[in-house]
Amino acid sequence: MPFCGHQWTPQTLASHVPRGSRGPAGPDLGGLGREPSAPTRGASLLTEQGATKWADVDTSAITHNTNLIKQLVGPKTAVMAVVKANGYGHGAVPAARAALKGGATWLGVSSVPEGIELRKAGIPEPILNLGYTPVAALSAAVAAKLSLTVYDREGLGLVKTAATDIGVHVKLDSGMHRLGAAPDEAVRLAMEVHADPDLRLEGFWTHFADADGDAAFTKEQLRIFLDARAALVRGGATNFLSHTANSPGLLRFPEARLDLVRAGLLIYGVRPERHWDDLPTLRPALTWQTIVTHVMTVPAGASVGYGRRFRAPAPARVATIALGYGDGLHRRASEGGEAIVRGMAVPLAGTISMDQAALDVTNVRDVAPGDVVTVIGQDGEATLTAYDLAEASGTISYEVLCAISARVARRYT
Ligand SMILES: Cc1ncc(COP(=O)(O)O)c(C=O)c1O
Repeated sequence: MPFCGHQWTPQTLASHVPRGSRGPAGPDLGGLGREPSAPTRGASLLTEQGATKWADVDTSAITHNTNLIKQLVGPKTAVMAVVKANGYGHGAVPAARAALKGGATWLGVSSVPEGIELRKAGIPEPILNLGYTPVAALSAAVAAKLSLTVYDREGLGLVKTAATDIGVHVKLDSGMHRLGAAPDEAVRLAMEVHADPDLRLEGFWTHFADADGDAAFTKEQLRIFLDARAALVRGGATNFLSHTANSPGLLRFPEARLDLVRAGLLIYGVRPERHWDDLPTLRPALTWQTIVTHVMTVPAGASVGYGRRFRAPAPARVATIALGYGDGLHRRASEGGEAIVRGMAVPLAGTISMDQAALDVTNVRDVAPGDVVTVIGQDGEATLTAYDLAEASGTISYEVLCAISARVARRYT
């Protein structure tokens, strides 16, 4: 059984929230939107602040999805829940807790501050910084007992200067050409970590560049990695975790699951590609909603919004909504984007502005200020997914989720 990482204890950081406490309390939105199944503390504050937009995060979906991944990869493979970028917009701490409940035993972040955020919330499980650790962050990373990625001599020198117990994951570049050492150098770095009495070689890893696309390239990346791993084992290194697979990698290449998979998008209930049908009971965890703030009738020929890009072909009903690019609704979605109101998907009308956008609700009866508008999620028979918004925005679902900005109140069930 490979080494499974050390447990952090709260004593290593001055301030922390007791284990088992929830993340930031979600808002009670004064009857707007779906009610959380259990009331959340601190709710009245946000009601007083008059939230007009929110993202509901169903943490039980994250637990469920993580559990599905765990079942898929089996008992010999650990699951690292990737909760960087604020848990892909879902909230890093609640996402981490939910994923741990579902069977994840590792958490992945992309920076030291992201790891410290989890520690401050009282999460003791192993956390790997998948990204760069600057000199200035080393002592904080050590105090928080974060495991660190090393991929060059400078990084190795840095962790050696700490002269203390640090879990190190050496990263090999097998073709992504982003972070990582060339295979021979990765083996040398890992052997040096292994030989150092302070450091622990906890992991050896690589990252796929195109696991949802070019299968031959991914297989070649895996071969390069496995050859290097074999050299490392021949050199006498043992007891480390080998990991390569992200969400598309773990679904498409069972042979790449190895000791641990690093699952991001899937734990949030979104498939890497819309048409994939793996894990049929996967549940999207996030619903993103706002409200109608104004409704008006405009005459034929009238324009709506900046640049006058929507022109009413006939008298039209237009509903203004309280969501704009300042909330993460990409301006590019102005053409082709949709939202659901009163159970019907309708097109955006005109250019999305910073705080507002408009919908053409000519075909929807009785739309009124205060009506809930769904940009990701389900309302009645209609559903819009992160893919729908991504397609309209000319991007991928990952970016749509990460882009939901801090001023969109998250609430948790
Ligand atoms: C190094 C690394 N591993 C794993 C992941 C998770 O990828 P996914 O969300 O496709 O599971 C990411 C995300 O970008 C990553 O950068």
